[in-house]
Amino acid sequence: LSVGVAHRTGYHFQPPKNWINERTGPMYYNGYYHLLYQYNPKGSVWGNIVWAHSVSKDLINWKALEPAIYPSKPFDKFGCWSGSATVVPGKGPIILYTGIIDENQTQVQCYAVPEDPNDPLLRKWVKPEKFNPIVVADEGVNGSAFRDPTTAWWSQDGHWRMLVGSRRKSRGMAYLYRSRDFMTWVRAKHPIHSKSETGMWECPDFYPVSVKGNNGLDTSEMGDHVRHVLKNSLDLTRFEYYTIGTYFEDKDRYIPDNTSVDGWGGLRYDYGNFYASKSFFDPSKNRRVLWGWANESDSKDDDVRKGWAGIQAIPRTAWLDSNARQLVQWPVEELNTLRGTEVSINNQKLEKGDYVEVKDITAAQADVEVTFSFSSLDKAEAFDPKWVNAQDLCAQKGSKLQGGVGPFGLLTLASQNLEEFTPVFFRIFKGENKHVVLLCSDARSSSIKSDLYKPSFAGFVDVDLDNNKKLSLRTLIDHSVVESFGEGGKTNILSRVYPELAVTNQAHLFMFNNGTEPITVENLKAWSMKSADIN
Ligand code: FRU
Repeated sequence: LSVGVAHRTGYHFQPPKNWINERTGPMYYNGYYHLLYQYNPKGSVWGNIVWAHSVSKDLINWKALEPAIYPSKPFDKFGCWSGSATVVPGKGPIILYTGIIDENQTQVQCYAVPEDPNDPLLRKWVKPEKFNPIVVADEGVNGSAFRDPTTAWWSQDGHWRMLVGSRRKSRGMAYLYRSRDFMTWVRAKHPIHSKSETGMWECPDFYPVSVKGNNGLDTSEMGDHVRHVLKNSLDLTRFEYYTIGTYFEDKDRYIPDNTSVDGWGGLRYDYGNFYASKSFFDPSKNRRVLWGWANESDSKDDDVRKGWAGIQAIPRTAWLDSNARQLVQWPVEELNTLRGTEVSINNQKLEKGDYVEVKDITAAQADVEVTFSFSSLDKAEAFDPKWVNAQDLCAQKGSKLQGGVGPFGLLTLASQNLEEFTPVFFRIFKGENKHVVLLCSDARSSSIKSDLYKPSFAGFVDVDLDNNKKLSLRTLIDHSVVESFGEGGKTNILSRVYPELAVTNQAHLFMFNNGTEPITVENLKAWSMKSADIN
């Protein structure tokens, strides 16, 4: 196989070639989902950014159209950066995006509308002269850190509101703007929220979630049945964090709950390679869909050789957990239409050191759902309260170091003799008052190739094991992607890996246990995944 071909994805979105970064302005409109994304038409490294455009009926199979937005005006001559779409009731969609006006990357906010709102594919977009750019950095706003306008929401006081990400020195913030007509915008006196030492807030996202059930809500919904989520992408580390809190509409303020850590230690949608995500409300299925981008973790030279870089994660339905402390995410149900041959394993005991192959599926392109159980937590290793960083703990313990309860889980993208494998596993510790559960996706053993970024991605799982000694895992395997959902989507990790041996039909899948406590695989279902029809 020529360079890069073995690592192309079968069902995670990527165009035939070139660089992509985040999808911008996702929306559902008149029967179609629109995927707009940051794209370099000229090569496989970042630059020359336009909004490429694909459409879909099911969020999985995509048809490519002409780019929707590209530099053409004085207010976006040097780039059309991220933004979002708002479907205005009775009027149709409006795109808000960041235009780059000079070589210093000075940023302004612009808008575009469909030439023909009755074209269900929304092929052509225009940028009216009137009102554009709609927002420029006024005094006190840092014009080189001022971008990525959110979907706007409508308030009872007769205003549209939207956020723009920014920073003042090292304090990250999102400015709030108000408008009666969507064209003339006024900045509120204070940012809606800010946090010291978090740096630039890229791609802020702000939306209501229902306190009950997993239906999504329109971005404008307010009331007692609603909590709000604020997410920011921190360009200092390329990680995102979010809080759950209260939005005080009359004060133009958002305040995170005291159960939500604000800043670096906060909750993350995904503890792996997942950035600049955005959500949208899908009225056709009453759900909020959350969508992230995963860049490559090979070298720039590799990307140039491959001729492509970047994928979109599988769109995820997101809702508030019944404990109201965090979100839960799950791949959109449409993904299941790609499931082919199914293999099922029940009540498989895994003693210490066991690893058992899951045979008869295409292990390089698969979907796996598994529930593990154990009868006792007595053997769990002691948790040191100094272990605040899950990724460090995963790197310290890994999958090879024997434990008490765990490590147990899957060895994905494994070569026959385990020269290469990406383990996705749980490891359970005895904390002071509670058990601590770690979910880990450890890329260190993923490839025999060096000069790759092979992090030990990990997150803690907020779960009560005392009454229910079970943990579940779903992993989407797609050649160079291992996208995992721990405990029904409470803790999620996307890894990018580049095996040399464990490619296509040379890849294998195993279940393993490397703890002294025996583990039972109560049920495992694995599917060979068909390829999606993409562009
Ligand atoms: C995030 C980001 C955005 C910006 C865009 C440019 O990945 O840096 O802040 O608008 O990419 O492509």
